This record gives sequence, C-alpha cells and structure tokens, in this order.
Amino acid sequence: MSSSDDIARVRETLLSRYEGLETKADILKSPELKELLAGIRDVEPSERSAYGQAVNALQQELKEKVLSNMHEKSALPSIDVTAPFDINGEKPSLLPSENGTTHPLTQEIATLSDIFYRMGYVVEESREIDDQYHMFEALNFPKGHPARDDYDTFMTVEKDSEGEPFVAPAHTSTMQNRILKKYHANLEKGEAIAAIVPDRVFRNEDLDARHEHTFYQVEGVYVAKGVHAGMLIATLQQFLQEYYGKELEVRVNPFYFPFTEPSFEFALSCPFCEGNDSSCKVCGGEGWVELLGCGMIHPNVLKAADIDPNEYTGFAFGCGIDRLVMMKYQIEDVRHFESAKLDFLRQF
Ligand code: PHE
Repeated sequence: MSSSDDIARVRETLLSRYEGLETKADILKSPELKELLAGIRDVEPSERSAYGQAVNALQQELKEKVLSNMHEKSALPSIDVTAPFDINGEKPSLLPSENGTTHPLTQEIATLSDIFYRMGYVVEESREIDDQYHMFEALNFPKGHPARDDYDTFMTVEKDSEGEPFVAPAHTSTMQNRILKKYHANLEKGEAIAAIVPDRVFRNEDLDARHEHTFYQVEGVYVAKGVHAGMLIATLQQFLQEYYGKELEVRVNPFYFPFTEPSFEFALSCPFCEGNDSSCKVCGGEGWVELLGCGMIHPNVLKAADIDPNEYTGFAFGCGIDRLVMMKYQIEDVRHFESAKLDFLRQF
C-alpha cells in the first residue's frame, strides 16, 4: 500500500471499524495503519514527503478521536454541591467509621515535633528534590568520597547547571546547611540554633520487613557556645523517655559519619522487654535497640555555613521515624505504612 488512494481507503475502513471497538485506542494499532507506514518504502522519492505527511495526518486524526472519547467517558455526572448533607432525615452516606483518619506516621510526627518544640526547637520541612551540594559537599563528603556510596541515593537523569544530577534526599541531613544559615543570626544574639526536620527520605534499597525505599527521618541540629556531647546524649534520652513514656537507659558506641566528629550510634534499652525476654520481637532478646546516628557537627560543616568552629560547637542527630513508631506499637513490618491497608490504618 503506497498511494494516496490507499490512505483514503484505510481511513474509511478504520473509521467505520472505530465505533464497534471496545477499546478505542486499538484503532491506532491496526495492521492497515502499519502497512501504510511500511508502504513509504515503495513510494517514489519525489512523492515520499507528501505521502508521509498524509499518513501522519491520518494517525493524528485517529489519535484525537481516541482522546476525545476518553474525555467524554471520564466526565463525572454533575453533582449539586449545595444539597444539604442529610436529606429528609436519611442517613448520611458516609458512616463515621468510613471517614478517613490521619495516617499513623503523621500522628507520630506531630507527637515528636511537640516534644521537641517544648524543648525549644523550631520545626522545619525538608524537600523532595535536592542537589549534590546539600546532599554531600556541604556535609563534608567531597567529590569521590567513598561514604557517598553508603547512601544509595536516587539521582535524576536531568542535570543541573554544573552537569550534576539532582537527588532525592537520602537523609534529612541535607537540611543542615540551610538551617545553620537560616538561623545564623540567633548566634549573634547569644541564642542557640535549635531545629528539627521530620520529613520523608528516599533510598534505592532492596525492600524487606525493615527497609522501604521511602521512609521518614527526624533530623536535629543544635549549635551554640560550649555545646558538648553530654548535651547531645541528655537531649536524646529526654526525648525518647517522653516519647515512650518511661525511663530508658541509653548507650553510645563510636561510629563514622563524614559530617560529625566524633560520631556515635545511639542505642536505647528495649522499651518493651527491658532486656527481660530472650525472645522479644523488638530487640531480638538483646535488650538494646540501635536507633539512630548522631555526633558533634564537623567543623567543616559549620564553616560551610559561615559559623566559626572555634567559637561555636553543636550536635546533630538523625533518627528513623518509622523505626521509632514500629517499636512503640510493635509493628513488625515497615511496609505496612505505605501499603494503604485499611485494616492496619484504622487501628490508629
Ligand atoms: N544522616 C545520617 C543517616 O541517615 C544520620 C545522622 C544525622 C548522623 C545527623 C549524624 C548526625 O545515616
């Protein structure tokens, strides 16, 4: 098939077939159309461009027809927004139990934000797309630093003006530099910089009961004159005791993060079994749960925000919120949170 008569004939055939089709989009995959497209090989070179244009025009016409059909189908029946909720004493169509509720993580973020707010912290938000500078450089991971690989960071195909991909933040620490800059003036007034960032983070990880690609962290940043590691530990212990509503023991082990020095891994005594149950689901019988990373903010991170590390010191911590909540309610699988399972969500 390679002439304009063929095109006209195929057009007639396809249009008459269109009405009978169950899935209208199938018209675009019809063999006749494919043959017309393939036919371009047999067209005289001088007529090729006109032929190509005519086939394209037919394809376009069919596409528009399919699209307008989809629009018609998806149009909703009109509703009367002024109608009273409870007509003629009939029951409202939604029973109370069918109403939506706040997601458990949203509720817990409100709770933990409130605890920190009462301790003098402001609450800030993160973002869902960030750049390499805030993910790495400002946090003392220079280019090529091996610890960059620990963060399984999702990157965009699109590049910024320096030719670097954007990132989906793999931790809330991406906000440290912005917080230090935003509240810099506090220091001159003799006040502390004290902020938390509870927000969503993303990692390109294998998924299982303890790992999700999308989860929540709460970052804490505190800077003033004379801040030391004892204040970090006391702050976290106080926060966790408030959150779990009981006295807890804490334990710190040395660790490594490029953006804190010294760095610690912070564990707390199991809020469930308190070390008394060798088959405890929460701590695996160890009596301790590793919960978060923290440390004293590295001088290079302070310098990147124009804070003099000889004058001011600070601490930072990053805690997985999903883990915190799972321990509170003995939830065994992190994937429940994003599963949209109503029987799970309705328990909160
Ligand atoms: N951002 C680190 C992580 O996600 C945790 C952390 C935050 C450690 C702040 C130290 C200070 O692994």
